[in-house]
Amino acid sequence: MTVPDFEEMWSSLLPIGRSAASGGYFRQPWHSAEGELRAWFVEEATRRGLSVEDDRFGNVVAWWRPAGVEGPAVLTGSHLDSVLDGGAFDGPLGVVSALAAYDRMVAAGVRPDRPLGIGVFAEEEGSRFGRACLGSRLAVGAASWDDARSLTDADGVRLGDVVEGGDPSAWLGGVGAYVELHVEQGRGLVDRDAAVGTASGIWPHGRWRFDFTGRADHAGAARMEDRADPMLAYAMTALAANKQARLSGQRATFGRVEVAPNGTNVVPSRVTGWLDARADSPEGMAGLVAEIERQAGARAERDGTSLAVTPESVTGAVTFDPVLRGRVDGLLGGSVPVLPSIAGHDAGVLQEAGIPTAMLFVRNPTGVSHAPDESAGMDDCLAGVEALATALTGLVTGPGPGPVEEGAA
Ligand code: GLV
Ligand code: MN
Ligand code: MN
Repeated sequence: MTVPDFEEMWSSLLPIGRSAASGGYFRQPWHSAEGELRAWFVEEATRRGLSVEDDRFGNVVAWWRPAGVEGPAVLTGSHLDSVLDGGAFDGPLGVVSALAAYDRMVAAGVRPDRPLGIGVFAEEEGSRFGRACLGSRLAVGAASWDDARSLTDADGVRLGDVVEGGDPSAWLGGVGAYVELHVEQGRGLVDRDAAVGTASGIWPHGRWRFDFTGRADHAGAARMEDRADPMLAYAMTALAANKQARLSGQRATFGRVEVAPNGTNVVPSRVTGWLDARADSPEGMAGLVAEIERQAGARAERDGTSLAVTPESVTGAVTFDPVLRGRVDGLLGGSVPVLPSIAGHDAGVLQEAGIPTAMLFVRNPTGVSHAPDESAGMDDCLAGVEALATALTGLVTGPGPGPVEEGAA
């Protein structure tokens, strides 16, 4: 059987969901471009003879489970959705590399002692329903379907209208280890002159919705001193967030804002901004968010407006499994750079759910991510495929990868 190699698969995906205007990608989950990518994945998996399973949360997994091969599986994969106007690599690189790594293992005659799954998680970016890593959180039971089913997108479509949902799916219960390959979202590997690295953990991070409420009025007739304009507290808060994050060496961003009623000649009645905050410790993140909230509240009060803050998808610090990391590092020769991740990943959700997890990063020459300029050179992508195939081969053969089979190791 001939299957497309990494470069052919990668080229075939490049036009899907790409904006002619910006060159960036709009691959929101359960919309047409992401649907096309999923159909592509199912086709590629099926033509390789893998058995495809679709859980009821929109996650898909393709299994390599030759007859008689059982036991805790090794899972690899990533996601196919993108942020709005995102890059080509964040997510799809891990999925395409997983298929290409599987092809290498087959070509090398690897006979697995345990199943290998290639997973595609849904709504990793939270670009449609607002919650990061929604598919993996639902699959491990870290998010409740009863709460999530009524999340709505910008058009008022409910999550429950696009996926069936149900109880957390059982398929992750049979997984003993997860290895996700991802484009690096920084310049750590450029600085270390290395094509591939591994991750130590993920910074605590989260999203908070800030609702500033005031009173709508006429932009001309209402005297400046009579207004209750919520835009002012929002604007001050965006500046304060940037300043506080710089002062503490952390990250704070308002990248999304909605204004009601959004008229040029109308003092707004409400401004909603979403804060994305990340820090190198849980205390750092709590302190950062508390200080931004304090300043926002004080300013809102001075303006005769009000503020309500609601946390959405907050994730604590993640440390990837040291035993699995050590094994992966050893399989890769013991000298690949280890980097912290300041971006969130489904890998963090699985690790926190008790599945030993590791990540591989592929060098990104610009360090830019979540933007059209995100990139990785073809040679580095192929080095990533090679590293992933090496790690997976070591994990699916010989002693088991995680605590489930500790006694056998
Ligand atoms: C995911 O990519 C995130 O860190 O926002
Ligand atoms: Mn991302
Ligand atoms: Mn990603």
